[in-house]
Amino acid sequence: MTYQAEYARSIDNPQAFWGEKAAALHWFKAPQEILSRDENGVDRWFVDGELNTAYLALDVHIEQGRGEQAALIYDSPVTQSKKIFTYRELRDEVARFAGVLSAQGVVKGDRVLIYMPMIAEAVIAMLAVARLGAVHSVVFGGFAAPELAVRIDDASPRVIVTASCGIEIAKVIQYKPLLDDALRRAQHAPDACVVLQRPEATAELVPGRDLDWHTAMAQAQPADCVPVRATDPLYILYTSGTTGKPKGVVRDNGGHAVALNYSMQAIYNMSPGEVFWAASDVGWVVGHSYIVYAPLLAGCTTLVYEGKPVRTPDAGAFWRVCAEHRVKALFAAPTAFRAIKKEDPEGALLGQYDLSCLKTIFMAGERLDPPTYEWTREVTGLPVVDHWWQTETGWAICANPTGLEVLPPKPGSSTVPVPGYNVRILGPAGEELPAGEQGILALKLPLPPGCLPTIWGDFERFRSGYLSDYPGYYSSGDGGYKDEDGYVFIMGRTDDVINVAGHRLSTGEMEEVVAAHPAVAECAVIGVHDDLKGQQPVGLVLLKDGVELDEAQLEAELVARVREAIGAVACFKRAVVVQRLPKTRSGKILRKLLRQIADGQDYSVPSTIDDPTSLDEIEAVFDSRGLVSKV
Ligand code: COA
Ligand code: AMP
Repeated sequence: MTYQAEYARSIDNPQAFWGEKAAALHWFKAPQEILSRDENGVDRWFVDGELNTAYLALDVHIEQGRGEQAALIYDSPVTQSKKIFTYRELRDEVARFAGVLSAQGVVKGDRVLIYMPMIAEAVIAMLAVARLGAVHSVVFGGFAAPELAVRIDDASPRVIVTASCGIEIAKVIQYKPLLDDALRRAQHAPDACVVLQRPEATAELVPGRDLDWHTAMAQAQPADCVPVRATDPLYILYTSGTTGKPKGVVRDNGGHAVALNYSMQAIYNMSPGEVFWAASDVGWVVGHSYIVYAPLLAGCTTLVYEGKPVRTPDAGAFWRVCAEHRVKALFAAPTAFRAIKKEDPEGALLGQYDLSCLKTIFMAGERLDPPTYEWTREVTGLPVVDHWWQTETGWAICANPTGLEVLPPKPGSSTVPVPGYNVRILGPAGEELPAGEQGILALKLPLPPGCLPTIWGDFERFRSGYLSDYPGYYSSGDGGYKDEDGYVFIMGRTDDVINVAGHRLSTGEMEEVVAAHPAVAECAVIGVHDDLKGQQPVGLVLLKDGVELDEAQLEAELVARVREAIGAVACFKRAVVVQRLPKTRSGKILRKLLRQIADGQDYSVPSTIDDPTSLDEIEAVFDSRGLVSKV
């Protein structure tokens, strides 16, 4: 099947297209109604279908004779340990942990929050929740207690699952004190917390509330799969928006399973029994989709890697893992390859490994800059596929569909729309722009299966944030253009979301923390170019009148505050004092202009600016603090 024919069918007759793809799965009740609308007027897929995602990810493969095949490989250079779970072993662990949750009262529709590092038990917990028809919400380990508390209150979990610690290279990060702190801050209290004690740190358990993972597992009875409707939620995953409150992206069961299963073949060219490695974290969407669900739905072997691209122990770590576990497709963020390139520019470490198994490298999560693309291609000699997607969609919107047809790549482009995604470039009035002109990347409705149907508990936020800018379209928040050949180029966010080391962060949220400092009158946090992490946040701070403060001291205090409120993952390390912020006459800070100055770009002074001389001051401060880089 060529890409063009497949794509045209998906757009011309989405019902027939997705009905056919849905038939590849083992439903408890096959859907008859392929596409319909819910009470909010949102397109929903497979509404009368019934299934269980954990059943599709595990039990089906055992029934089909793949029980002894490796399902999950845990490889942890930071603890010097490795473990392989066959499909049967993983299913048994999952069923038993589902029994643990069930004994704590978890039933279909209940939420279970998972705050765990990159260990096999995180995957076991997620699948166990799915097995019960409950809804998991995984929180990334790099978030601090207040962030965790916000998520606990929003998702109101019946049970929380955590581990005593995570290991960041050589640093032991104690998770349990962070959870205890978050629970003190939260309004909502779970019925129970299940704690996995790891040898590197022992957590104190609160009697009557906390259970030890191993003890509970030893006492539990395995629980069976609970059928759910296709439109029932599988998980909530919080992501950064433009305000302080994170958005709980909701993923349903049916559309998700169909889309991910399709993607494994069409985008990643994977077949059952082959090894797929997404070097991400289960706390992010890439981890949800391509460490946990998609590889298992497709009967592949997945990898949980508790390490970094560098320093665990060196820049050959990725190549070691690929060679040792015979990885066919590797998926990671460009930042990871920039980190490897920095430490091993010639790719010398690559030569130590037999990488004949590795066929393609996929990258996403942030813009893949052409130098990183070229370097990776040159040192590995492999095709490198840039693909564009978001937490909201759960799978790629644009990609080189390697399982359908390998299209000639163009550096800087994430290639073409994936079947199912009707990608358009719109101008300010919603008009479609011609090839080469930059605008907003919008997706004409209906969105394909797998994409979010709402924000948890807040449909209005979904409607106003995504559906109301251009009626009939989903507005992605990214800007870009298509060229004459229909290739899509993503140029970056059009809102105040930034991307640091492939992690999506809200500058608005950081501004709330910085502005709360008693010395700060006003502030703006912008993302500036960073050679390794793509972007890094920088705070521009205006002091209250009469405040006399050592700037280095203030910077240290602000850095500490952001770390405590949001977490180390925010990477907030720089704050500079300015005398004025460039604003419009109506008082809006000109953030885009600030970014352009920091990135050394040419800019035009908008006619709406209140006082153009403020720009000279900003340029001088940026220069003196070494904040300007030529992108
Ligand atoms: N739990 C606790 N803390 C975490 C964490 C986790 N899961 N992940 C990161 N952190 C901490 C780090 O220890 C670091 O803390 P520090 O400020 O005390 O050093 C901070 O958060 C920033 O981490 P990071 O941005 O990852 O920087 P780094 O210097 O530790 O590592 C890279 C740099 C490039 C090696 C790393 O960012 C990387 O592997 N990036 C790939 C990103 C990725 O996979 N993204 C997923 C999207 S596909
Ligand atoms: P997240 O929701 O964390 O996956 O982040 C999604 C955002 O990351 C998108 O809106 C883009 O801004 C950016 N992004 C993801 N993939 C790419 C890509 N291939 N090229 C450019 N930007 C990307």
